[in-house]
Amino acid sequence: MDADRRIVARSEVPSDGSLIFRIRPKDGDDPEEAILVALDDGVAGWLNACQHFRHIPLDKGSGVEMRDDEIICANHGAYFEVDTGYCTFGPCKGAYLETVEVSVEDGSVYLTDDDYELLGTGQIEDDDLTSESNVKF
Ligand code: FES
Repeated sequence: MDADRRIVARSEVPSDGSLIFRIRPKDGDDPEEAILVALDDGVAGWLNACQHFRHIPLDKGSGVEMRDDEIICANHGAYFEVDTGYCTFGPCKGAYLETVEVSVEDGSVYLTDDDYELLGTGQIEDDDLTSESNVKF
C-alpha cells in the first residue's frame, strides 16, 4: 500500500466517535473533511457532510457524536448507520452519507478512494483552501 495514502494506525480510530481527516478531490477542488469510524471488522470512511444541508459538517469540529452504531448529525439530530451511511431518522431520512473508500492493512488505515488525494489528519485549516475570499482586509 502507498505510504502517501496512510491515514492513521487502526488503533487510533476511536470506538465511540470518529477521526477527522482531510482529502482533496483529484479534479482540484478545495479540500474536504472526511471521518473514519470504527466497525467490528474494520473502518468506514464518510465525507463529513450531512445530507440534510450538504455544506454543513456532521460534527461541531471535534468529530461526530455516536449513539450505539449510529452517527448523529450535531445540527438537527439525524442518525446515520455507521456501516452503511443510511439515514434512519431525521430530516434527511432515507439518504446516504457519501462514501470515502478506505481499507485496513497491517494495522494501518489507507485511503483507497481514487477520487481523492490525502492531505492529512485533523480539520481543514485556512491554509488548505485555494479559493480566495471575496472579502479583503
Ligand atoms: S444539517 Fe444534519 S440533520 Fe440538518
